[in-house]
Amino acid sequence: WTASSLSVVVLGASGDLAKKKIFPALFSLYYEGLLPENFQVFGYARSKMTDAEFRDMITSTLTCRVNARERCAEAQERFLKRCFYQAGPYDEPGGFQALSTRLGEQEAVKPRANRMFFLSIPPNVFLSATGNAADHARSKSGWTRVIVEKPFGRDSASSAELGRGLAQHLAEDEIYRIDHYLGKELIENLTVLRFSNRVFEPLWSRQYIRNVQIIFSENFGTEGRGGYFDQYGIIRDVIQNHLLQIVALFAMEQPVSLDAEDIRNEKVKVLRSMKVVAPEDVVMGQYRARGKLPGYLDDKTVPEGSLTPTFAAIAMFINNHRWDGVPFLFKAGKALHKRYAEIRVQFRHVPGNLYRDKQGADPDAACNELVIRIQPKEAIYLKINNKVPGLGLRLEQTRLDLQYQQQYQVELPDAYERLLLDVVNGDKRLFIRYDELQAAWDLYTPVLHELERSQAAPELYPYGSRGPLGAHYLAARHNVRWGDLADDADDE
Ligand code: BG6
Repeated sequence: WTASSLSVVVLGASGDLAKKKIFPALFSLYYEGLLPENFQVFGYARSKMTDAEFRDMITSTLTCRVNARERCAEAQERFLKRCFYQAGPYDEPGGFQALSTRLGEQEAVKPRANRMFFLSIPPNVFLSATGNAADHARSKSGWTRVIVEKPFGRDSASSAELGRGLAQHLAEDEIYRIDHYLGKELIENLTVLRFSNRVFEPLWSRQYIRNVQIIFSENFGTEGRGGYFDQYGIIRDVIQNHLLQIVALFAMEQPVSLDAEDIRNEKVKVLRSMKVVAPEDVVMGQYRARGKLPGYLDDKTVPEGSLTPTFAAIAMFINNHRWDGVPFLFKAGKALHKRYAEIRVQFRHVPGNLYRDKQGADPDAACNELVIRIQPKEAIYLKINNKVPGLGLRLEQTRLDLQYQQQYQVELPDAYERLLLDVVNGDKRLFIRYDELQAAWDLYTPVLHELERSQAAPELYPYGSRGPLGAHYLAARHNVRWGDLADDADDE
């Protein structure tokens, strides 16, 4: 550790992701003392900038958690001194050779110089930039690790092509495919909840679980990101990756150990057991204007008449012993009524329930439900039936409730902090292995192609609404009611 230096190179340094997530995360790790003494950050992008201008650009992105506010200014200053910038093209070696020379100047004092590249660049320069970084700026004395972020292609074939391209320059163990949902606190906790509590794992199967819902809702539209988004749509943007990853962790068998390969072996197994999505399992929506709120097609960066879905509800099934017949329902959308993400596990009815007539007219309302709120206001709660205190005998549903803010009173680290630290430490547990990525694409590729071929029109929903009605029909066909609607009132 002390004998090595660490250089982090952010390709696409002036982009949104870099400014919003990567620099702030690196800064947090730095002031928490989690990075090596000899550490530097290099921004790399096409536009010309001096080191001083680069430092100015990122200064405003460097914020501290509440408990570190006092030492923040001083930490910022120290961090910025370690930040440098190199301009250059992505598709020619020249800039990368210059970068390597400058990296070398900073690293000179240490015998082992580790280099970490974060690719935050558009897909069309992805391969050439990786190739050039790996061939002309890789470390000669330490490790080289390259973090790549979606889009990993648009379907199975393009993802495989990208995979082959990367493999020409990098070994699989040098590639870190990031899915930032895996870095979220409650997703990390999912396996802890399941495998370290005696009360959950025995219930974790078709015998007790009626359906599982994975819900992702944003209360803003594409707003300026339409150019990227329109090429992909909501299924590729969040379902094929973030939401499916959640299901893989949720539904996998217990891994042999906590080792990255053991965990990923189980995830691949469950993904390969899933039924390939068929068109009838999908409902698509696109938001339209409401009042002053613009519709998707009003976004200047979106092509006229685009049919790209900004909302989708999908029913998926896992054809294995544990989950046969249990619907896993996904719902994801932009420009909906509020921003949140959660997992809802609805349990079966109590057979021969003694209290049936004390629980109100709707037997479904009395089923237990476990809710894992990923964000915001992280929480885990279990809805149970309870006697209303008093002389009479009336039951109501209430919550066994773990609210993170109340219980822990800490600011949770951003997902990118955890993931970047894992890369520094060479821990691949939370990164996507190549076969996992391909298994994920294989589930959606046929339906994505079919929807594009048939030019299916998405159902329009007003900006700020709860999405298209079709999502309810899809759920009803599988005998499911979306659980989030019932809870909304008390969560406002
Ligand atoms: C990204 C998607 O991967 O995740 C965005 O491209 C989406 O469209 C974002 O807004 C959501 O991430 P988070 O962490 O804000 O929920």
